[in-house]
Amino acid sequence: MKYITYNDESRVFVLRTNHSMYQMQVINFDTLVHLYYGANIGDTEITHRLMFLDRGFSGNPYEAGDDRTFSLDVLPQEYSGYGNGDYRINSLEVEHQDGSDAVHLRYESHRMWKGKYSLEGLPCMYGSEDEAETLEITLYDRISNLKVRLLYGVFPELDVITRAVRMENEGENPVKIQRAMSMEMDYPNRHMDFIHFYGRHTMERQMERLPLHHGVQSVESKRGMSSHQHNPFIILCDKKTTEKHGECYGYALAYSGNHRCEIEVDQMEQTRVVMGIHPYHFSYILNKGDVFETPEVIIAYSSEGLGKLSRIYHDAYRSNLIRSKYVNSPRPVLVNNWEATYFDFNEEKLFNIAKTAKEIGLDMFVLDDGWFGNRNSDYTSLGDWQVNEEKIRGGLPKLVQRINGLGMKFGLWIEPEMISEDSELYRKHPDWILRIPERRMTRSRSQLNLDITRKEVRDHVMEKIFEVLDSCKVDYIKWDMNRSVDNVFSSALPPERQGEVFHRYVLGVYEMMERLVSRYPDLLFENCAGGGGRFDAGMLYYSPQIWCSDNTDAIDRLRIQYGTSFGYPISSMGAHVSVCPNHGTGRTAPFDTRAIVASAGTFGYELDLAKLSDEEKEIAKEHIQEYKEMEMLVLNGDYYRLTNPYRNHEYVLWQFVSKDKKETIVNGVMLRNESNPHIHLVYLEGLEPDRHYKDADTGAVYTGAALMYAGVPLPVGQGDYQPLKFKFCMTDGDI
Ligand code: GLA
Repeated sequence: MKYITYNDESRVFVLRTNHSMYQMQVINFDTLVHLYYGANIGDTEITHRLMFLDRGFSGNPYEAGDDRTFSLDVLPQEYSGYGNGDYRINSLEVEHQDGSDAVHLRYESHRMWKGKYSLEGLPCMYGSEDEAETLEITLYDRISNLKVRLLYGVFPELDVITRAVRMENEGENPVKIQRAMSMEMDYPNRHMDFIHFYGRHTMERQMERLPLHHGVQSVESKRGMSSHQHNPFIILCDKKTTEKHGECYGYALAYSGNHRCEIEVDQMEQTRVVMGIHPYHFSYILNKGDVFETPEVIIAYSSEGLGKLSRIYHDAYRSNLIRSKYVNSPRPVLVNNWEATYFDFNEEKLFNIAKTAKEIGLDMFVLDDGWFGNRNSDYTSLGDWQVNEEKIRGGLPKLVQRINGLGMKFGLWIEPEMISEDSELYRKHPDWILRIPERRMTRSRSQLNLDITRKEVRDHVMEKIFEVLDSCKVDYIKWDMNRSVDNVFSSALPPERQGEVFHRYVLGVYEMMERLVSRYPDLLFENCAGGGGRFDAGMLYYSPQIWCSDNTDAIDRLRIQYGTSFGYPISSMGAHVSVCPNHGTGRTAPFDTRAIVASAGTFGYELDLAKLSDEEKEIAKEHIQEYKEMEMLVLNGDYYRLTNPYRNHEYVLWQFVSKDKKETIVNGVMLRNESNPHIHLVYLEGLEPDRHYKDADTGAVYTGAALMYAGVPLPVGQGDYQPLKFKFCMTDGDI
């Protein structure tokens, strides 16, 4: 084991990646403490920072005898259980059969192996023996004999470490887990900022940076989905950290359900972070021999600012999380009919959109909501996954054949987790929903959640969907989810297991998605939950792209895509050109600008192409061509945020650089022009300072250093919302 070591004498564990290091130690009474996470500091074991002092009102374990200096209340721990004198937020809370709830975790053993651990039914990063190493540390509670195995996946090249926890009841009596976070990390005395991504439907992942304060701060979702409101990805950083400089730490939960990240600054100015499944409405009963696994947290450290941290996540997800064969290969450029037609279409209308799409150089037509049952509005038919032949005469196979005949691929929208009360499925199986007995249901978008904790419900839905997919050639699926989970009760589970419903729902989703991707490995799969309501690392394990937001307004998208880029690869963000005035905001932005913004994602269209003028069609052809030329940069390149839209209200800029640094594109939008303007300079990043780069437009040649340190002026006086674009390619020869 090269990247994970254990020193028998000092009992110190060291995990190393190329640019980071993580240390833990087993100390008195087999207590596992956290020593360090940060820059690689060589062969020093960071044991010298632990200080043992008599702290008032911080208790001491019985074994410590008269020693009042040993207290779990102030020691940095690796995974703390409740009820042992540590009054901070804990990772594990259980209830034993006798009603007591203390759980005292002590080190028992550890093992290491090459390759990455995996989790049963849960998404997680994968890694071969050459890519990753695993450390498993077993802790145990002496009284209940609950085993708690801390799992660490170390990816040296990617500079990420993953954590998860596997619990096994090796005792005789049942243990009810009431809180099982995926990870805990303690920082010694350090004043940090907290960055998180909040929002709402159509305004997802707005960035907020706040100083940590004493007490507990948290972000969470109790909606049964990772949510539009708070993303399960956060950053802690030094106060002086910027895009380019300073230390920062990322924590990403690969989970698509209820989550909570809590950060506590304690009485000793120490900071504790815990992240995992939200304890709200959560419990899980482990009978003798049962196992429970938490979702995985993917953590990363950068000493080179937030930009570098994002690039670590982008690379890690693209190489060892997203499994789709499309992850690094060009995706079909699509047109989706949702904003073009909503529910009002027939096969001719669809075919005409597809025909124009072909003319302008698109690759795929996607049929969105409204093709099945009696679905002429969102009040009806979810669950009835048979084509509506009144709308699509001749059925899907015929439509698909015609579209394929144009040389276009075909994609389809589904929403498998849902049911409408007005549906054949509901009339037949009214008990297949999540519903609290005797209480009325909360409706949302007039639909209800299917009880997909139940296997027979999952089997039925997937069989119906497979029938459709087997009946014609479908190249792409958009899997939607248009309401939060509520009415949380499963008639298939006993009263004492109702706390498992939220989690079992998510496991149900994962199982259904796994069946889909393993049955159709060539399918391009896009996730969606009313836009970006389930934009999380868990979903990326199944689909290489996620519809970023139902908001297609190019100007709003600048902030949504900016926020999303902190934790997720650009190639994972579904982004489409739509009409103006925009359906959501009423705003008008130039066609070129809409295309530039959608090009910072998986590019497509969402408008009635048949209504474009001839001139617009010609322009669209150019946009598509330009996107195809830059697509490999979007898929594989390094991404730089050159401006912060919350600070710079005049323009927004971002940059792609190819991994070999030979090609770079700067794109952006001029938000607000002023009369008698300042000269605004764009400073590029990530180039070879000593090589020459040629401006693809003007032919001017600059050194990489000149582009990075002297900058290039932005055009002025062209009006608001105008697109900004630069392209530079390395020319031969050093300086
Ligand atoms: C959600 C999606 C949209 C569209 C509609 C259809 O809102 O995010 O893109 O598919 O559902 O009902």
